[in-house]
Amino acid sequence: LKLDPATIILFGATGDLSRRKLFPALFNLFKREMLPPSFAIIGVARRDFSQETFREFVLQALKEFGGYQAHDEQQWNSFCAHLNYAQVNLTEAEHYEKLREVVEQRESEKDIPQNRAFYLAIAPELFSSVSANLKNSRLVETDGWKRLLIEKPFGHDRSSAEKLNREIRAVFEEEEIYRIDHYLGKEMVQNIEVIRFANSLFEPLWNNKYIANVQITSSETVGVEDRGGYYEQAGALRDMAQNHMLQMLMMIAMEPPSSLQKEATRDEKVKVLRSLRTYSVDEVKDHIIRGQYTRFGEYKGYREEEDVDPSSMTDTFVAARLFVDNFRWAGVPFYIRTGKRMPLKSTEIVVEFKNVPENLYFNQHGNLEPNLLSIRIFPYEGIYFKINAKKPGTDGSVSPIAVDFCQNCEGGVNSPEAYERLLHDCLGGDSTYFTRWDEVALAWDFIDPISTAFKEDKVELVSYSAGSWGPPKESHQLLEQNGFHWWPVG
Ligand code: BG6
Repeated sequence: LKLDPATIILFGATGDLSRRKLFPALFNLFKREMLPPSFAIIGVARRDFSQETFREFVLQALKEFGGYQAHDEQQWNSFCAHLNYAQVNLTEAEHYEKLREVVEQRESEKDIPQNRAFYLAIAPELFSSVSANLKNSRLVETDGWKRLLIEKPFGHDRSSAEKLNREIRAVFEEEEIYRIDHYLGKEMVQNIEVIRFANSLFEPLWNNKYIANVQITSSETVGVEDRGGYYEQAGALRDMAQNHMLQMLMMIAMEPPSSLQKEATRDEKVKVLRSLRTYSVDEVKDHIIRGQYTRFGEYKGYREEEDVDPSSMTDTFVAARLFVDNFRWAGVPFYIRTGKRMPLKSTEIVVEFKNVPENLYFNQHGNLEPNLLSIRIFPYEGIYFKINAKKPGTDGSVSPIAVDFCQNCEGGVNSPEAYERLLHDCLGGDSTYFTRWDEVALAWDFIDPISTAFKEDKVELVSYSAGSWGPPKESHQLLEQNGFHWWPVG
């Protein structure tokens, strides 16, 4: 990617996301010479920081959250020269005039053409007003390009998402909007496409004739931490399923893109959502499990967490059976599950193949295990393929062997963080791994009846002990109804 000189205007520069992810990502890109030839970063927030305090704040963030190593002093000093701070109260229109002056001043000092990336790492309630202010203050009137990077959540249902979209579209064109789903920046999520379409091995089998089911898991060990207020509104359904889980499903189920040019991949992904079977409010209970963690040992229950209603009905776990009703996938269940306070932090996709038509062999339990392809996204990055082979020294006894490729197991292979890749792509104008508006809209169409069913209590809220794999019976039954079971992950 060719990167034009540009200015990054980072709203929410003192927030958690900036500290934990964005500054480390920017510094790492800088060290790898993957930022534009000339650039400026302008941190925007409300705190009364001097330039020095801001730089010190960023340095602390790098030390705490990675990016800064002992021998990085020189690199840091040169990075620092690109960093500036602008104190802005985001709801005050006049403050944006001041911000424009800061931006213009930096551009002229550093001879940067007016290419501006506005990153909104702020509370979603502010998305609309900040974009309106960017317009009114003419910050978006540039001679070069302008781009908007925006974090989730993008609305809380279809109609709020539409409203938000109209508001930001009054300022930015769709091609200028980079909606972040950080799962799309993960090495192995991007690798799904390559594994599928760069090998002749899998693609002929990648359909309902040979695949029995697909299981997509993203489990977390943490609870809601200090995000109770947000999570009460979101639940696992909106926090994870609407975006990350559906994105992984699209990558697994899409048709090969016509090229790697602009829009080709997103065109294919969105078709998956068009074929995704939506459930009516009454059907939801047959396909979706809704869970909430309760206290186990030292782990608090969800209702005991800070900023959580003691009688909260929020889902901290969801599992679902999905169908992509198209030619390739008719009849193949896709199971997804995600939750907080589970035993492992793991993101993994298991593709289970159908059995051979006539089985001549047996293993010690009498039956042959199916072939499995695991795409491991976190903590391992790699693939694992389970095939059956003869057990040495026996007649027809078979045991599974694993063909295992782990790209981060050996050290040395240090794949860039999701945010590094996404920032770099945006600066290079490549929106492939960002969520397009039609994806957002269709994802909400699928999610909305589920939220309604939850709200109307049409799906039982089942509790699970903190540290377990979700409601044991219900989660198990979801697959058992089709003759399957969850394969272990992690
Ligand atoms: C975020 C959710 O989008 O993804 C968080 O809001 C969740 O609740 C996080 O913890 C998980 O991301 P990752 O990359 O750690 O799997």
